[in-house]
This record gives sequence, C-alpha cells and structure tokens, in this order.
Amino acid sequence: MEEQIIGIMGAIPQEVEGILGVLQNKTAHSIGNRTYYQGFLGQQKVVLVYSRIGKVAASATASALLLHFRVSEIIFIGVAGGIAPHIEVGDVVVAKDLIQYDMDVSPLRPKYEIPLLNKTYFETNELRSNQVLRQIENFLSPQVLTTKIAADELRKFAIQQPKVYLGTIASGDQFFSTDQQKENLQQALPEVLCVEMEGAAVAQVCYEYNIPCSVIRTISDKANQEASFSFEFFVQKISQVYGQEIIEKLFQ
Ligand code: ADE
Repeated sequence: MEEQIIGIMGAIPQEVEGILGVLQNKTAHSIGNRTYYQGFLGQQKVVLVYSRIGKVAASATASALLLHFRVSEIIFIGVAGGIAPHIEVGDVVVAKDLIQYDMDVSPLRPKYEIPLLNKTYFETNELRSNQVLRQIENFLSPQVLTTKIAADELRKFAIQQPKVYLGTIASGDQFFSTDQQKENLQQALPEVLCVEMEGAAVAQVCYEYNIPCSVIRTISDKANQEASFSFEFFVQKISQVYGQEIIEKLFQ
C-alpha cells in the first residue's frame, strides 16, 4: 500500500509555528514562494505549510500539497471570526461543510454556487472531523486548558468555558471588521458559525482531487469593530497553543 502522507495547512506563520516546534526529522522545501516542511508527528508522515492569506494563496498551496507532495488528506488549522451570536473568542469550530460567500454569478446560476461544478457547500471528512471534535473537547476542558494557557492570558480574552462546535464555515477574501459585514453575512447565510479566508477554497481543491479535507478554526475575534485588535493579540499569544495541542494529539 502506498505511504499515507497528511498535508497540514495554516494561513499565517502563527497558525503553524506550534506544530512546527514538535515536528520530528524535519526538512524544508521551497516551492512557489512557500516553505513546505516534511517530517513526522509520532509515526505519521506529514507536510506542514502556511499558505498566506486568502482563497488564491490557499488553493495554490493545496494544489502543491496534492501534486508535488502527494498528500492523501489535508487538514487546515487556523483562526476565524465568530459570526453566530453564541460563538465566543476561544471556542473552536470544526467545519461540517464550507461555502464561498463571495462567489456570485447570479443570475446565471444560484448565488454562491461554484460555476461549472454545480456545487455550493463542500463537505469535510466526517471521520477525521469527529475524531478532532473529541480531541478538542478534551483540550478545552478546564483541567487541561489551564495547564496549557496561563490564567491571565485566558482572562485577557475573556475565555471562560470554551466550547467546540461542528457546523458551516464561510470563506471569502475579506477580513470582517464591521458590524455591517457581520450582519450582511448573518442575514444572507444564517447557518454560518464563523468566517475566514481560506477553508472553502482548500475544500474545493480537495473535492476536485477527491481527497478528504478537514478545517478546524479557533475563534480569534467576533468579526466586528474589535476584530483586528483581538485577532492580532490572539494569534500572538494563543493560536499556536491550540494548533499544536489539537494536531499533535491526533497522531500520538
Ligand atoms: N480570520 C480571523 N478573524 C477573521 C475575520 N474577522 N474576518 C475574516 N477572517 C478572519
């Protein structure tokens, strides 16, 4: 049987740094303005990379993982802005499916549908997502979380009893930093739990290559006026810990 290699992606360095720190026997390869790190997490061979921000950067990176590194699965990990009212900073959303909220060729085809693919929602790998959900529930339990992140850091972000959700994630090439952006998306797609800028693009590439995909997003901000401030501090202090804890434990 062919060796299984898992591609692990983030968008920015802070989303993959924690994982890079625990990657064993790593070698770096530069292709197309990205650095791909090959190595092992436990017994599992992986390729780790950050794509930079946005759907184009993420799609190009996912394609290189599939074609050059021959990965048989992609897991995307990173941060997102909370959209549904009950989603708080420090919660985690595991994608059940993803939609590109900025795709619109109406009236040619229904709004949000990807032209010539006749598809709007991209489903994720159910087995992996369920495994990740259990893993995150354990990590977020107070006994575990407080040993990984200092109490005063948790307090700064008002993280009290963070939760994990399985649901719909929306992706597009916009950073949400106003109530108006948030309300527009809530009205257009009320099922959306959080917003980010890469997941649905990676999910589309994986769909087209028939490769399983999962997307895991920690909420760094609430996609409103305070988003940029909250985002900057969250990715400096917290997101590495979530990323490392979630991914490393999957392969122990
Ligand atoms: N990723 C993290 N926060 C975000 C936001 N507010 N908008 C888009 N992507 C994000």
